[in-house]
Amino acid sequence: MSDRHRLTSVETVEAEGTWLFTVRDNYDEDTEVLLVPCGDPDREAVEAWVNRCTHEAQKLYREGVGAVLRGGEVICPKHGSSFDTCSGYCDNGEAAETTLVSVETEVEDGQVYLTDEDARFLYEGPSLSDDDGDGGPSSTSHISL
Ligand code: FES
Repeated sequence: MSDRHRLTSVETVEAEGTWLFTVRDNYDEDTEVLLVPCGDPDREAVEAWVNRCTHEAQKLYREGVGAVLRGGEVICPKHGSSFDTCSGYCDNGEAAETTLVSVETEVEDGQVYLTDEDARFLYEGPSLSDDDGDGGPSSTSHISL
C-alpha cells in the first residue's frame, strides 16, 4: 500500500511536456511512469501512464530524447501510433484499439500526487534497473487498474 506521495506540480508537467518517474509494484518490479498534461477541463490536469507502448515493449519516453507530444497525443517512437494523453486510448496504427496502462494520481492545489495502491514511488527519472538497452522496459509491469 502506498501513501499519497507528492510527485511534482502541474505547472512543471505543463512546462516540460512530460515528467518521468519510477515506481515499484506489488511484485517488487520497477516500472517507469510518464506524467503528461491533459487539456480536457473535465478531467485531471495531468494523467499518468506506464511508459510502455501497448503494441511492443517500447518506451514512449526515452532517456536523452524524452517523449514526443503532438496535439494532445503522445507518439510511440517505434511505429508512430499515438495515444490520447487524457484517456490513454489509441485509435491508429499498430497499437489501434488499445489503451495505455494507467497509474492512479490526483491533482490538488496544483500539485500532482501518486495515489495508486499498487505503486510505491522510488525516484524521479528512468528506472536504474533498466539494463537491456533496447528501449524497452526492464520488466513487464503488473500494475493494472
Ligand atoms: S511499438 Fe509502439 S506502435 Fe509499435
